[in-house]
Amino acid sequence: MRVLLLVTAFNGLTQRVFEQLRLQSHEVRVIFAGCDDEVRDTVNLFRPDLILCPFLKQRIAEDIWNKHLCIIIHPGITGDRGPSSLDWAILNRESEWGVTALQADSEMDAGDIWSTGNFPMREASKASLYRQEVTKMAAHLVDEAIELFKLRTDALQVNPLSLRFKPQALDYSRADVKGELRPLLKQPQRAIDWSRDSTQTVLDKIRAADSFPGVLDEFCGMPVYLYGAHREGDSEGALKGDRPKQILGQRHGAICVATIDGAVWISHLKRQKIESQAFIKLPATWVLGKAVDTVPELSLKVLPDNKTDTFSEITYSESGSVGYLYFNFHNGAMGTEQCYRLLKAYKAALVRDTRVLVLMGGDDFFSNGIHLNHIEASEDKAESSWLNINAIDDLIKAILETRNKITVAALKNNAGAGGAMMALACDYIFARDGVVLNPHYKAMGLYGSEYWTYTLPNRVGVEKAAELTESCLPLGAQAAANIGFLDAIFPGDVTAYQFELNKHVTDIAADYQFEQLLANKLQRRDRDEAEKPLAAYRQEELLQMELCFWGEGSQYHAKRYNFVYKVSCTRTPAYLKYDSNKPEIKTSSVSV
Ligand code: COA
Repeated sequence: MRVLLLVTAFNGLTQRVFEQLRLQSHEVRVIFAGCDDEVRDTVNLFRPDLILCPFLKQRIAEDIWNKHLCIIIHPGITGDRGPSSLDWAILNRESEWGVTALQADSEMDAGDIWSTGNFPMREASKASLYRQEVTKMAAHLVDEAIELFKLRTDALQVNPLSLRFKPQALDYSRADVKGELRPLLKQPQRAIDWSRDSTQTVLDKIRAADSFPGVLDEFCGMPVYLYGAHREGDSEGALKGDRPKQILGQRHGAICVATIDGAVWISHLKRQKIESQAFIKLPATWVLGKAVDTVPELSLKVLPDNKTDTFSEITYSESGSVGYLYFNFHNGAMGTEQCYRLLKAYKAALVRDTRVLVLMGGDDFFSNGIHLNHIEASEDKAESSWLNINAIDDLIKAILETRNKITVAALKNNAGAGGAMMALACDYIFARDGVVLNPHYKAMGLYGSEYWTYTLPNRVGVEKAAELTESCLPLGAQAAANIGFLDAIFPGDVTAYQFELNKHVTDIAADYQFEQLLANKLQRRDRDEAEKPLAAYRQEELLQMELCFWGEGSQYHAKRYNFVYKVSCTRTPAYLKYDSNKPEIKTSSVSV
């Protein structure tokens, strides 16, 4: 089938659908919805059987949906309509939410329903629910829609009267239609009333607006948007204040703020726009600056327990001979200090009496490499980029040189750029079904480091390594396993994934040939080192990175600026664009 993805951006959900359809051997193209004429031209040239819109904020031009079947994925339960679906679901503390696949029509979100599915809500931010539950359900509904489309087409060809599937018109009188049209949530409705709102309400309000637009508030006399809310636990010794909104402490850039019945951590702030000056999301204490100089830093030990109920980016747990190291950095981005903190934790985990060390990544991403916002906020952006890349390289070097344990990268969530390459430093890579990797740097104008020139060809071969890094296309878990990037895929369901992961790593640790396994690993590493030292790979990569950071004509600084300031790109990127002379998008990720 020929499927055109009509989207606002090539975001994580779109990438997942793109990969899923290509794996099923459909011919898939992507077009951004910014310019109707460009969409029309692509539709005319590509002649899709179906237009799918996994992430679309704009209206589709009437002549397009009139002539072509367009199915829109809406992040809401049946009958839900409006631009703030998940926001309302979080604020209203819905126990269940859903995703609906509906046909484009003159009224937004009111077209005939192709399929729908619900999921239990989780205490998490809107972005987290979108990246996980919504994305998983949407991927499922896309499969269903394709099947129903095929059924319908086959039936129409054989005997139109035998047609059994018909999309359902939206009918609010039906008992199972629980959704409704809800307005755009605006800042006054999002605002926190610190003198009345409980910790739970504060958390809900911030989460309902995270990652966009954030809740507008004021701290230390500065109007700021709030992001990254975590509950301060209520165990003994938990922080509590004399008055709500009092800043009680700081930790690794986050601030702990008193509520009427406890306290919340807020990890990130963004200053409100002043005239034409825009700001970016940064650690809260960076934004508040001198105003929080005297607020005490409430440090934790190097390896805090994973069960800790206070805010901690890095945590650790152990089960038998297996250590699990979690690094839950906001947006998966790892700044210089975070890399060194993680390196310290990694070294501490190495001296534990375990055989296997599993890198668990964070709640929403495994890792997305160096921290582009931190870099953008620094005085000397080239120097800051240099320090950050060396910091992540130091961390990865320690993983590559680990001699006393088998290391495992556990990709519960997506990974991009240097974060995807970081996984390659481990002896085994396991991933959750549905995970999407972006093992490339070119879209950011970077050559990349993280020892990728050593690890990637080692895993997938020189040719595939070049394809992956040049094409800039996403790589789905299944496709990654097909080319050897991954060792195994575990179920998409989080509990089943965790169970399989634990079983596999426990089996590795308990293997009666464990010593041999370790000896083989060391032998391989020593052989590789004799052939070409790790230092040589790093030096060559960093020479290229120097050109990206300081070289004339480098596109990196402009691309990074556009990325962090979200300078909207309404035109389809060249690497995705449909070209009738080059009908196949070159990639390594199709099923082999
Ligand atoms: N530094 C800072 N922020 C980052 C980041 C990074 N390396 N990678 C992702 N983010 C942020 C995004 O700005 C976005 O922030 P917001 O939601 O708070 O506004 C959030 O993480 C999610 O990213 P988004 O791009 O919306 O997710 P996606 O799933 O659509 O795409 C990637 C994932 C990895 C393809 C994309 O984020 C990306 O290209 N990141 C840059 C990776 C990179 O070049 N790293 C540097 C080289 S090592």
